[in-house]
Order: sequence, then C-alpha cells, then structure tokens
Amino acid sequence: MKITRRDWLGLGLGAGAAALGGRWSALSAADVVSSGPLNMAVIPSSGEKVPAVGLGTVDFQGDPDKDDLTPLRQTLEVFHRLGGRLLDTSPNYGNSENVLGRLLADLSIRNDMFMATKVDRENRAEGEERMEGSFRRLGGAIELMQVHNLRGADVQLPALVEWKKEGRFKYIGITTHRESQHQEIEGYMRRYPLDFVQVNYSLADRAAAERILPLAQDQGIAVLVNRPFGKGGLFGVVRGQPLPDWAADIDASSWGQVFLKYVMGHPAATLPIPGTSKPHHAEDNAGALYGRLPDMALRQEMERWLDNLK
Ligand SMILES: NC(=O)c1ccc[n+]([C@@H]2O[C@H](COP(=O)([O-])OP(=O)(O)OC[C@H]3O[C@@H](n4cnc5c(N)ncnc54)[C@H](OP(=O)(O)O)[C@@H]3O)[C@@H](O)[C@H]2O)c1
Repeated sequence: MKITRRDWLGLGLGAGAAALGGRWSALSAADVVSSGPLNMAVIPSSGEKVPAVGLGTVDFQGDPDKDDLTPLRQTLEVFHRLGGRLLDTSPNYGNSENVLGRLLADLSIRNDMFMATKVDRENRAEGEERMEGSFRRLGGAIELMQVHNLRGADVQLPALVEWKKEGRFKYIGITTHRESQHQEIEGYMRRYPLDFVQVNYSLADRAAAERILPLAQDQGIAVLVNRPFGKGGLFGVVRGQPLPDWAADIDASSWGQVFLKYVMGHPAATLPIPGTSKPHHAEDNAGALYGRLPDMALRQEMERWLDNLK
C-alpha cells in the first residue's frame, strides 16, 4: 500500500491510522518515502545524500532497565518511518547515547541511522576513551564525530582526522550553540579539513548567516543546525498567530515546518536537528522532509514577517 504525499501531509498520524484502517504500524519507511521525493541534504565532501531533517536527542533520558521509554521509542519509530535518518547526540546529554543504543536495537533500525555524536576532552587519551565509550553505548557505526562546543578542539581534531583515515567515522566536525564562538568556529573551518560544522541558526537567530554559512558554502562544509526553534522559544513568539498565506507555497502545515523549512531553504547544506522527545512533534517535524522549500525572496519575506511581529 502506498501513501500519496497529499495523504501524508493532510493526515495526522492518528487520523492517518484511522483512515488507513490502523495500518500505519505495518507500513515500512520505503512505503512512505516512495510516495514523493524526500528533501535531501548533500554532504559536499562526499556527495552522500541524507534526509534533510535530523533529530536532536538531548531529552532522550531515562534508565532503559527501569523506566518506561515508550514515548521515546515511538519518537524514534515515527521519525524513521517518515524518512528521517540523522540523529544527533552526545555523551554529555545524560544517558542519551545509552537510551538511543537500546531503543534503536529494539526497533531493529540501528543500521539505517546516520549517527552523529561528540567528544569534548582536553586530553587526547581521555578523548579517545570517551569516543570508545560512545561506540559501545551506541552499539554500531558512528558516521559523524564532532568536537562539542570546541572544547579541546586543537587536541581532538588531529585525533579525529586520524580516526577518520582509519575508517572509524566517515565525517568529522565541530559544534557550538553560541554566537560568541562563531569567530572561533570560522578559524577552525579554515584550518582543519572539516566535513561538518554545527551551529545555532533559526528564523529568530540569524547571526550564522552573516559569515559561517557563506564560509561553509565556500569551503564545502555541511551544516547541522541546532536550536532551529530557538530552544522552543520561537513557538512562543508566534503563539496565537495563524499561518501566513505563504506557508502554503512551501507546503508547510504547522509553525514547526515553517521554521525548519526556513533553515533548509538556505543555500548552504543546512540540515536542522530539531530536539524533541514527543512522537507527535517528531511527526510534525518530519513533515518538513516533504514538499517545497522557500527561495531567497520568500526567506526574506519570512524574516520581515517575524520582525514586524516582535
Ligand atoms: N553545542 C551543541 O553541540 C548543541 C547545543 C544545543 C543543541 N544541540 C543539538 O541540537 C538539538 C536541537 O536543539 P534544542 O533541542 O536545544 O532546541 P530546538 O530544537 O530549537 O527546540 C527544542 C524545543 O522545541 C520543542 N519542539 C520540538 N518540535 C516541536 C514541534 N513540532 N512543535 C512544538 N514544539 C516543538 C521541544 O519540545 P518537546 O520535547 O516537548 O517536543 C523543545 O522544547 C539538540 O537536541 C541537540 O542534539 C547541540
């Protein structure tokens, strides 16, 4: 059974299950993906394509042996079923890596995923130990290893370059969520052979577009975007506002999809990693994997619209 994109966009998961005779759980990702083109991000250093909305897992918390992790399992399941593949985590996010490793194994989808995690130690041996721990906890391949918030970057990046050469990861990168680190990030983008940079960027927080995103384009570095909802704050800014008419021009049926498509429409390889631990939000965000993206003119209109609201 195939679902058309119109069906997918028009039906919430619950409504979809009812309309399709409760068959959602029987559908494979391939059924949904084959229903229409998926928005993909191209990684410039390799040409590999990745579904262009990821999932941030800072709130994937709990004890897999004691706690009921059903909502987290459902969040991952929905994200995967609707075509999402890239997961962003860190050993600094409580036990997110453990939880992910366990749930992905339970769902038998570990090998489908593009896993991004991080390291942040000042000392090389401690960094290597930390990365070995991530491999153990995540129980499978790590595609992207990033230096978290630039901590220990000059020590860790040479190690990451070596581990990449040895085939332990496909890609290496650096992260920040603070504008105050953007200048330093630029320096690392010029000095090291990075595949990815991860920065804060959203409709309300556009500083990265001044220098980081253009530099990423010039250097052929893919961009993961954290805080695409301003840590959730953007929803408060638009509370009570109906979607403007232009949302239909980009096939966006929610504010979450508007915010994600604004990021995805930037000509740098921008792949947002919205954080959620709720299945209905993962479903909403996966909607941005489908349909049209804004061009530069519409992105500017979106910015003017938000600026007038403030
Ligand atoms: N320096 C770094 O490396 C760094 C720093 C910050 C973040 N990150 C990464 O980036 C990811 C995203 O950043 P973030 O989680 O801080 O901020 P964010 O993605 O901008 O916002 C997350 C917030 O938005 C809410 N939300 C998600 N989807 C929604 C939807 N469709 N409708 C309404 N609310 C929605 C979430 O609540 P619910 O949970 O209730 O859905 C959560 O409160 C993190 O998870 C992490 O992986 C990395």
